[in-house]
Amino acid sequence: MEHLLELAYLIGSVGFVLGLKMMGKPDSARKGNLVAAFGMGVAVFGTLFLNNSGFAVIGNFWLIVGAIFLGTIVGYLMAKRVQMTAMPEMVSLFNGMGGLAAALISIIEWHHMKHNQAAVSVGLFVPIIAGLIIGTISFVGSIIAWGKLNGRIGDFRFAGQQYINAVVLGFILLAAYFTKANGYDASVNWFYITMGIAVVYGLLFVFPIGGADMPVVISLLNSFTGVAAACGGFLYNNNVMLMGGVLVGSAGTILTIVMCKAMNRSLTNVLIGMAGSSSGSGAAVSGSVREVQASDVATMMKYASKVVIVPGYGLAVAQAQHVCHELENILTEEGVDVKYAIHPVAGRMPGHMNVLLAESNVEYDKLVEMDDINGEFASTDVVLVVGANDVVNPAAKTDPTSPIYGMPILDVDKAKQIVVLKRSMKSGYAGIENALFFDPKCGMLFGDAKDSLQKLVTEVKAS
Ligand code: TAP
Repeated sequence: MEHLLELAYLIGSVGFVLGLKMMGKPDSARKGNLVAAFGMGVAVFGTLFLNNSGFAVIGNFWLIVGAIFLGTIVGYLMAKRVQMTAMPEMVSLFNGMGGLAAALISIIEWHHMKHNQAAVSVGLFVPIIAGLIIGTISFVGSIIAWGKLNGRIGDFRFAGQQYINAVVLGFILLAAYFTKANGYDASVNWFYITMGIAVVYGLLFVFPIGGADMPVVISLLNSFTGVAAACGGFLYNNNVMLMGGVLVGSAGTILTIVMCKAMNRSLTNVLIGMAGSSSGSGAAVSGSVREVQASDVATMMKYASKVVIVPGYGLAVAQAQHVCHELENILTEEGVDVKYAIHPVAGRMPGHMNVLLAESNVEYDKLVEMDDINGEFASTDVVLVVGANDVVNPAAKTDPTSPIYGMPILDVDKAKQIVVLKRSMKSGYAGIENALFFDPKCGMLFGDAKDSLQKLVTEVKAS
């Protein structure tokens, strides 16, 4: 009976690691999620009903069960109702709740220590103050990110903000130092001052981030929450909490670095809230747009030897992945070599396009990453851009005043013919014009992506 709790935590930790590994591949991701959730279930069960010498129900049992019950209902309803395209907003919101929980743990434990007049040792103080600072920044930043993603909050930046941000960061550390130096009974409450400056930093950190750079910031905030939770693990000497926090923290950090590379952003700039190399809105684009009809596009594709499909956010909005796969199959039967070009931040969350296309059973080897496909566009007869915009905008290479300048793009303008499926001439997520649509090689097939793809399927079959 001894050490049952340790065993439960071990099962929980192994569940997290296995689950995370399985989430690395689209075909095992769903199972991975379940395995990790099972691990968490075992850890929660262990915490509620076991202690190191056997069965013993935890204190405040009904309060905790009540909170779990409420959280489960709210989380279940939100997850059931959320649109796939609004997932990043929900991730931000949930991430913010994690940060808030970590900050609350620190507040409670600080008061607990004060009540017991425990010595403010470095070993206790560091996880408490780090959990407070990182959790608060993560909570405030995530709520702003949530508001920005759903359009309720706009960008806000001023000249020299990166220096102010760096100074504010310095003030947080200074206030943390004074908290430790003055203990509980100082006339100035340095603990809450530290928290207050962390709130300011959370605001300054996320407010200036431009649309196209939000994914990097969300992933960074995610890793912050992991680190804040790991601080709780240190504090309570709780292995599974520590393990969970470290996994979220490290996975989030790796993802942030990968995305920084993918978007050609400097990690330091992201850390001081200045991702994006330009605050401009890009040069105006002029020229005429050529509208094309489905029948012409179908003929063009049917007689092509190589077609590359570029999926973007619009594919997800239209839920056009199945009909897109059908078009791919029909063209392949006609002897056309069809591939998908996957930009690392196409859509609204990392891996969005992979998940979407996997849902319609597109073979994985047909999905080609940006760096591998870019060299192939010059030998591509037709590029079919389905609801993508920012990820194919040449301004990222040619216009230093553009907010997406420096972000690597899919070089679709190198292909022999380009066809763009979208509903209007409206801009994409970054809110800027796209000169690609005015390229003489480019034809616009206006309409909902699902309808347009359905028309193309019908026309290819008929022609
Ligand atoms: P966007 O630049 O957002 O462009 C999507 C285009 O799809 C829009 O121009 C829209 O034009 C069109 N569209 C929307 N609904 C459609 C429908 N039903 N049928 C046909 N077209 C439709 O998408 P992207 O090229 O995939 O780029 C992604 C952008 O989002 C990047 O800037 C990226 O940084 C950002 N972002 C990415 C993430 C992650 S992690 N991937 C997270 C947040 C933000 P119409 O309105 O004219 O149809």
